[in-house]
Amino acid sequence: MQSGEKMNSEKLSKRLAAVAAYIPKQARLADIGSDHAYLPCYCVKNGIADRAIAGEVVEGPYRSALNRVEKAGLKHKIAVRKGNGLEVLSPQEADCITIAGMGGSLITSILERGKAKLSGVKRLVLQPNVGAVFVRRWCAENGWQIVHEEILEEDGKIYEIIVADAVGERRPYQLPAAELLMGPFLIKEKNQAFRKKWTAEKRKWQHILESMSEAHTNAELADKKKELLHAISLVEEVLQ
Ligand SMILES: C[S@@+](CC[C@H](N)C(=O)[O-])C[C@H]1O[C@@H](n2cnc3c(N)ncnc32)[C@H](O)[C@@H]1O
Repeated sequence: MQSGEKMNSEKLSKRLAAVAAYIPKQARLADIGSDHAYLPCYCVKNGIADRAIAGEVVEGPYRSALNRVEKAGLKHKIAVRKGNGLEVLSPQEADCITIAGMGGSLITSILERGKAKLSGVKRLVLQPNVGAVFVRRWCAENGWQIVHEEILEEDGKIYEIIVADAVGERRPYQLPAAELLMGPFLIKEKNQAFRKKWTAEKRKWQHILESMSEAHTNAELADKKKELLHAISLVEEVLQ
């Protein structure tokens, strides 16, 4: 759960409700990094998922998930399992996987390490708190088709959701740099949360660049500067 969010298995936060909206009806859901198991409880109670697995690697959240599922009377429908990433799943057990509320690089490392468990999975609903670029790159490199994206603000924080489907032979593809960074669908929509996020990111990079120009320059710094300038120009082009 993110700080400031108020929710339970009856009512989800705006962020998790948006994740739930992309889970296909009658899914066999696996929610990895489930914490209190709010999402699987909500989905099973509301007929979105037939059954679910809540995976957690840390003892405290794992216990919270167990308690929540028991209190909700859903033990016959939701299996709470302790383990790292997708290792809690048997092959073909889930057809939709949600991974929410973590950094994009952690989400991609969970997917990468758990690749063998992805056969039979039709949809990934991924909600990186930061580093959505890593998630998009992983989807493209592994042939997962990005079919929806959403960006929203809740309690002063901005969240992105990336929905990717297994389509056909899952051939790797490339996304242009701006789409990789900012999202192919989000770029088209350019909603208020999107503008707010990228205006703030651009400002942050500009500050970093200013502090760098005062510092001693070496090859590594020069590369970093180039990278920042490139990112700023991508964002400016999209926002204009
Ligand atoms: C910030 S919480 C997010 C909880 C919930 N998914 C949400 O979006 O509100 C992240 C959870 O992921 C769990 N986690 C982190 N790495 C994990 C991994 N490799 N496998 C399973 N769970 C993991 C953490 O223990 C933590 O409970």
